[in-house]
Amino acid sequence: MSYLATRLAAVKPSASMAASMAAKALRARGLDVIDLGLGEPDFPTPPHVADAAHRAALAGETLYTPAAGTPALRAAVAEKFRRENGLDLSPDEIVVANGAKQIIFNALMATLNEGDEAILPAPCFVSYPEMVKLLGGVPVTPVCGADTGFRLTPEALEAAITPRTRWLFLNTPGNPSGAVYSGADLKALGAVLARHPQVLVLSDEIYEHILFDDREFVSFGRACPELRDRMLIVNGVAKAYAMTGWRVGYAAGPAPLLKAMNTVQSQSVTSVAAPMQAAALAALTGPQDCIARFRAAFQRRRDLVVAGIAEIPGLTLSPPEGAFYAYIGCQGLIGRSTPAGKVLADDAAVTDYLLNHAHVGAVPGAAYGLSPFFRISTATSDAILTEAIARIARAVAALSPAKAA
Ligand SMILES: Cc1ncc(COP(=O)(O)O)c(C=O)c1O
Repeated sequence: MSYLATRLAAVKPSASMAASMAAKALRARGLDVIDLGLGEPDFPTPPHVADAAHRAALAGETLYTPAAGTPALRAAVAEKFRRENGLDLSPDEIVVANGAKQIIFNALMATLNEGDEAILPAPCFVSYPEMVKLLGGVPVTPVCGADTGFRLTPEALEAAITPRTRWLFLNTPGNPSGAVYSGADLKALGAVLARHPQVLVLSDEIYEHILFDDREFVSFGRACPELRDRMLIVNGVAKAYAMTGWRVGYAAGPAPLLKAMNTVQSQSVTSVAAPMQAAALAALTGPQDCIARFRAAFQRRRDLVVAGIAEIPGLTLSPPEGAFYAYIGCQGLIGRSTPAGKVLADDAAVTDYLLNHAHVGAVPGAAYGLSPFFRISTATSDAILTEAIARIARAVAALSPAKAA
């Protein structure tokens, strides 16, 4: 008899973590593996941010803080939403948690009853469906393919809504596709939601600053102010300030929802560690020049990857509009055979081949709900990306053609 809770039975560990572990295992055997599985900015956290944490700890900011976050950090987050997103919020409409992921977890924990549905436009971040399942909900994953720019259309949203729908998740710019919703796209989705008052909206805007080709970012909160009493705008410092390991996320939402999320927070982790909150405060209120610097590097790398993949027959890539991933179509490799004689039946077989033959770690599209694709992270140096693309090109060239059916 297993001692594990039944709620875990359907929940998978993170696929991007698993891909990264597989890459690390090969590396531990002495192989030169390029791991493009996990998505983390490869830049150091700005020094003034690290300093702020150090100074806070030395100054005695080492105690529990309010569950929702320190008043100073919440005020800074409210100011960020005003400055960058045109949202007028009071600090009471802000919560802080251990990363955007914990914000999402707390929100689901606070709102889902057994069997409630969450619409997660696929391809989507690997943790969304697993968190929904963990908390007793049912993920509903309308597929949004390259034909709609990997974006949910109003028609697809209308078709996915049922009386059990509790949440719609949006993620702009999106992981893994890089799709960005325009203000008009968001308004059109908002018009559908206006007809379904039981649906809450979670807009995950964690990649807000990583946008290409001079695109403008529009927050869901800005596009659909009329839905303010049922939207949660999720963001954090992880991607914008190269702070993934510091674990600070934040959100804006209606007071009753935030109050329930704070109950979850106070009865579980209590609060985010005080020095980490001081660091996030420094990130949001200090010099912002790193944002433009990181964005320029990610744009250069996006261009490099788009150009490189275009040269590889059998692979397709619509240029990502934001975030730091490339979601590469690999339909052209399915059915072909590896030099060892294995037929590539699906995208998991493709990533397995790339890892073991080319020594490049990638995540299969199946993990995100849309196949056959694989995701690589572009959050690494130009030199490493160039080498990875050369390896992928050689591995693809080594495949035998598909046998005629
Ligand atoms: C769409 C999306 N949301 C949230 C996160 C996690 O953010 P945090 O590190 O703040 O928990 C990620 C990380 O990969 C992500 O891709």
